[in-house]
Amino acid sequence: MKVLVVGKGGREHAFTRALLSSPSVSQVYALPGSAGMGESVRLLAGPETPERLAEAHTEHAFDLVVVGPEVPLVNGVADRLREDGALVFGPDQQGAQLEGSKIFSKEFMEKYNVPTARFQVVTSLEQVKEFAPQFEPPYVLKADGLAGGKGVFICRTLDELLEAADQLFNDKILGEAGARALLEQFQPGYELSFFVLTNGTDFVSLPMAQDHKRLQDNDEGPNTGGMGTVAPMTIAPENHQAIIDQVVNPTVQGLASEGFVYRGVVFIGIMMTDEGPQVLEYNVRFGDPETQVLLPLLDGDWGEALKAIASGEVPSLNWKDAHAACVVLAAQNYPGTPVKGVAIEGSLADSENQYFLHAGTEKSSEGWLVNGGRVLNAIGMGDSLAQAIERAYEQSKKVKWPGLQKRTDIGKKSPQPK
Ligand code: GLY
Repeated sequence: MKVLVVGKGGREHAFTRALLSSPSVSQVYALPGSAGMGESVRLLAGPETPERLAEAHTEHAFDLVVVGPEVPLVNGVADRLREDGALVFGPDQQGAQLEGSKIFSKEFMEKYNVPTARFQVVTSLEQVKEFAPQFEPPYVLKADGLAGGKGVFICRTLDELLEAADQLFNDKILGEAGARALLEQFQPGYELSFFVLTNGTDFVSLPMAQDHKRLQDNDEGPNTGGMGTVAPMTIAPENHQAIIDQVVNPTVQGLASEGFVYRGVVFIGIMMTDEGPQVLEYNVRFGDPETQVLLPLLDGDWGEALKAIASGEVPSLNWKDAHAACVVLAAQNYPGTPVKGVAIEGSLADSENQYFLHAGTEKSSEGWLVNGGRVLNAIGMGDSLAQAIERAYEQSKKVKWPGLQKRTDIGKKSPQPK
């Protein structure tokens, strides 16, 4: 089978690696991909638009297209490719609105009784001032549109909230994506990343993963796309069942009732609170860096599993009795404007249980260079969580560059929720 992966980051490198080791897959392509994916992956020039992907499909006749990031899905690549008869892992444009518009997604949750924090739609600083007294600090302000991980403001005080609203609505720091927003009640608890593969009517759930979104240890510093992950994350069986009953079942029923062509993954950001699971957000693609720790846990063939979903079937999946950890190595100044073009010193050599995935690198005649905010993902696999973490950190020490940033406490949150 010839499989195309759309995208170029660490998540997509995790996909190409998993597909290269799938017996069902004979050739892996990536558009645009990255040199870090290795010479076995055939790179096709971007952009990740419906037109370019349709053209690439006409030329190469892929047996399966796996769409990594959300933007091409929100722009309708799955619809366009399906019109041409392609098998696509990823929802249609309507279904992708669950991530493309935070307001659409909240209205969907309300309609299908999926538990989530109470909210108010706001479109100006004046409205935020008007509605803020109905919420308690800390406040959450979320831009409606796609903002590349920069659209959520957690504000400890009213002053912080008003400043964020001023930036969003008056300074327009996120442009059209921030023209409307949600003012939402913050909910304390512990966060987890829950994934289901679905054909739009049935689903199979994956192991849970734990992300670390803040830049610095002890969950301090600015929010990022994710500085590291571990999987599987274990919680009490009754809590897992509550997520299935209260969140996943109504969500998948909603997908079916709305008539979306939803053949892909729903990545549900969940806050486990004293009142049970509350949905923070839906994503219509795999998480980054969650994918990096989930894919290596499958005891099976990812090519077959993704193709089954794209064909409208739900595969049964078996998981290894193993753990995975990912430590993100980020560029100087990330999550602000990263310092690029710096040489990566050291060895990128890998082994089965310890390896790098490339998130933002570039190959030059002199070697590898930093070319993004999140640069490399150090992955460790082990029989225990502790071993996986130890191996990921051991791997992370094999490279360096000026200003390299990484957390030293990935997977060490204590106590691990049970
Ligand atoms: N790691 C969070 C995300 O992919 O959105």
